[in-house]
Amino acid sequence: MTVQDFIPKSYSKTVERGNVTWESPSNIALVKYWGKKENQIPANPSISFTLSGCKTKTTLSYSKKENTSDFSFEVFLEGEQKDSFKPKIETFFKRIEVYVPFVRDFHFKIETENTFPHSSGIASSASGMSALALCLMSVEMELTNDGYSENEESQKYFTNKASFLARLGSGSACRSLEGDLVAWGTHKEITGSSDLFGVKYPFKVHDNFKNYQDTILLVDKGEKQVSSTVGHGLMHNHPFAEQRFEQAHENLSSLIKIFKEGDVSKFIEIVESEALTLHAMMMTSMPYFILMKPNTLEIINKIWAYRTETNSKLCFTLDAGANVHLLYPENEKIQVLEFIKNELVAYCQNGHYICDQIGFGAKKLA
Ligand code: DP6
Repeated sequence: MTVQDFIPKSYSKTVERGNVTWESPSNIALVKYWGKKENQIPANPSISFTLSGCKTKTTLSYSKKENTSDFSFEVFLEGEQKDSFKPKIETFFKRIEVYVPFVRDFHFKIETENTFPHSSGIASSASGMSALALCLMSVEMELTNDGYSENEESQKYFTNKASFLARLGSGSACRSLEGDLVAWGTHKEITGSSDLFGVKYPFKVHDNFKNYQDTILLVDKGEKQVSSTVGHGLMHNHPFAEQRFEQAHENLSSLIKIFKEGDVSKFIEIVESEALTLHAMMMTSMPYFILMKPNTLEIINKIWAYRTETNSKLCFTLDAGANVHLLYPENEKIQVLEFIKNELVAYCQNGHYICDQIGFGAKKLA
């Protein structure tokens, strides 16, 4: 598919008003997206687990307006007007209007809520942007003749285009529509992979990775020190950029084999190396940043010691911040939660952590 495939010819129906609700999850990357080209095209392919418990629920109400010269919308978070969200959504609308030209024809009320605490330092852009993109696709469907969603091909187009739009809101958001494992970015071994949207991982995944657990240790709940957009920008003219992008392709190839064979030890090697590489990129860019906090390192060392002592398959990954995601197989749930309570909670801000599980993608609620 090309960008042209997402530009509609015309809409066949007129609709005065309506509303739609979608719920969309967050995701955690195993191979990281870090570095992008023009128009939100990733510099390398990435793959993520879908975090079925950390979700954003968004209701989009729309009513036809006369004047189409400006975008018109209001945003509410947990019932409270949130004007600080408007610039990001305005930028999003500007980027997507050629693909969903009806955005100028309606006044929108966007009501959104997260299942995870807003001040937790967990990025809500992936779940938030994917939920909004899905709502907009439901509006597009309303404006298009019946039958849009009837057959498999139309449904695939719906999901691909929703992911395409979500990407233009926030890159990683395009991996938040479907369940379990989603790849984004062209990779020679992944059938159907694209730089334009995320695709559900098409190959066999060993039972060892079913219902994988993710516990997020909230080390630092503050505002991000560096926004991801600035972070991605630092990969331009970065001395190690090309090697890093190449490594992401190779790590994804390794993961295909690992997922097939169920080799959790090798999985750990790739996942932890990816997390540390992301942070290494930040430390070696100009300007340079350290996004980990002392407690991030304490936790990492505790995990390594625990693994040596117990032969556990617990491992960690990191986003572009200080919080730590603990990834572990379902059959270790009881022991790992015990370990977290006894040894890791002390390193979390106010003792906070969030338990989640890899699972389903987005759902239409109304
Ligand atoms: C470190 O998707 O937040 O989480 O496209 O600028 O919105 P923008 O960036 P964003 O970047 C996320 C980067 C990451 C790794 C990942 O999720 O792959």
